Amino acid sequence: MESECGCARLAMAGVLLSLIPLTSPLSAFNECDFPAIFNCGDSNSDTGGLSAVFGQAPPPNGETYFHAPAGRYCDGRLLIDFIAERLGLAHLGAYLDAVGSNFSHGANFATAGSTVRPPNTTRSQSGASPISLDVHFVQFSDFRSRSQILRRRGGIFQELLPKENYFSRALYTFDIGQNDITYGYKFNMSTEQVKEYIPDVLAQFSTVVRDVYALGGRSFWIHNTGPQGCLPYVLDRFLVTAAQLDEYGCGSPFNDAAQYFNRRLKEAVIQLRKDLPLAAITYVDVYSLKYTLISQAAKFGFEEPCGNDGGKYNFNNAMRCGNKKKIVNGTEILIAKSCQNPSLRVNWDGIHLTEAANKWVFDHIVDGSFSHPPIPLKMACHRLDN
Ligand SMILES: *[C@@H]1O[C@H](CO)[C@@H](O)[C@H](O)[C@H]1NC(C)=O
Ligand SMILES: *[C@@H]1O[C@H](CO)[C@@H](O)[C@H](O)[C@H]1NC(C)=O
Ligand SMILES: *[C@@H]1O[C@H](CO)[C@@H](O)[C@H](O)[C@H]1NC(C)=O
Ligand SMILES: *[C@@H]1O[C@H](CO)[C@@H](O)[C@H](O)[C@H]1NC(C)=O
Repeated sequence: MESECGCARLAMAGVLLSLIPLTSPLSAFNECDFPAIFNCGDSNSDTGGLSAVFGQAPPPNGETYFHAPAGRYCDGRLLIDFIAERLGLAHLGAYLDAVGSNFSHGANFATAGSTVRPPNTTRSQSGASPISLDVHFVQFSDFRSRSQILRRRGGIFQELLPKENYFSRALYTFDIGQNDITYGYKFNMSTEQVKEYIPDVLAQFSTVVRDVYALGGRSFWIHNTGPQGCLPYVLDRFLVTAAQLDEYGCGSPFNDAAQYFNRRLKEAVIQLRKDLPLAAITYVDVYSLKYTLISQAAKFGFEEPCGNDGGKYNFNNAMRCGNKKKIVNGTEILIAKSCQNPSLRVNWDGIHLTEAANKWVFDHIVDGSFSHPPIPLKMACHRLDN
């Protein structure tokens, strides 16, 4: 009897252990208390960088949450905004925004169109931002040293710039790579040719993570790249045959390239964990969430997965949100449908997700269930070796 009970208890303990091996180490950890965020990325996390340099994102961008354009290519908030809010921090100002920025809790180096590798073309030739990831790092490095020189002057500088110890305690977030993939397609490369240069893209990405670590960065939160083959603008711009569309109307070659990028990114992150012993590096699979949302939009309460206004791929480049479409009695009328009820749409302008879609993705990544290792956002300073 006794021994049977003991066995049952042991068996029970075995079941419990096998069910919770991933969450139990976390119970020993405290929440991280990140005092700042430094972000690198493209339009998926640009909060005003490109706007500061090349002109403001036009209305109706920003209408849902900010009630005016706010440097974002979205009707409202981006993942990085939800991340800041959840960490109890104000939204991040763009490093390039010289007017009115408060960097006491971090800075955003992202610009729409940013690539990891420096582009060999101008913005008007390819749409690639000249402010690529290597530039983000130079800006960060400069910001790190000069902010401390200025802080010593006291007064307002103390209020607008981060304390020195924030740089090691901050969360460093990355959401970049999408434009490196489309870059090749814009030069008529095949998917195979695009895949050939992806290792070079990731080598340059890893270099920047190492360089941030060398300057004291310890906590990294890295989003993988989304299913760009589901973006109406990609389908509209690049030649796609019917055979290349999957059952949800997404272009398989582009998603294939994105998934290849993500596999290599995950490998790069695993290598970085080995090389940087004091770093906590979390890889976050936003691809799966975005693909799930786009392919099963109705199930999650969204009306239309993609697109703005008919056409072969439900995309009309002339009707992107913000394009002035028609003048009626001297008033500009915007008629792209996606701009009319963004809370029910996944895609805002054929390229970027709506605030509602971003919120949905955020709600699924915040608890760590799409992270590798499965660390929640607020625990992302902890290294979980597995
Ligand atoms: C700057 O931001 C910090 C943190 O959000 C806030 O406490 C401070 O009052 C702000 N300072 C100014 C001058 O806006
Ligand atoms: C730009 O050109 C250089 C020299 O040909 C090449 O090594 C590099 O990969 C190119 N960059 C991109 C983004 O294509
Ligand atoms: C790509 O191919 C199209 C169609 O053949 C051609 O018009 C365009 O000039 C090519 N672009 C580049 C950068 O080679
Ligand atoms: C334009 O203005 C005229 C004169 O006020 C009016 O009759 C007409 O209905 C207006 N058209 C539209 C589309 O609002």
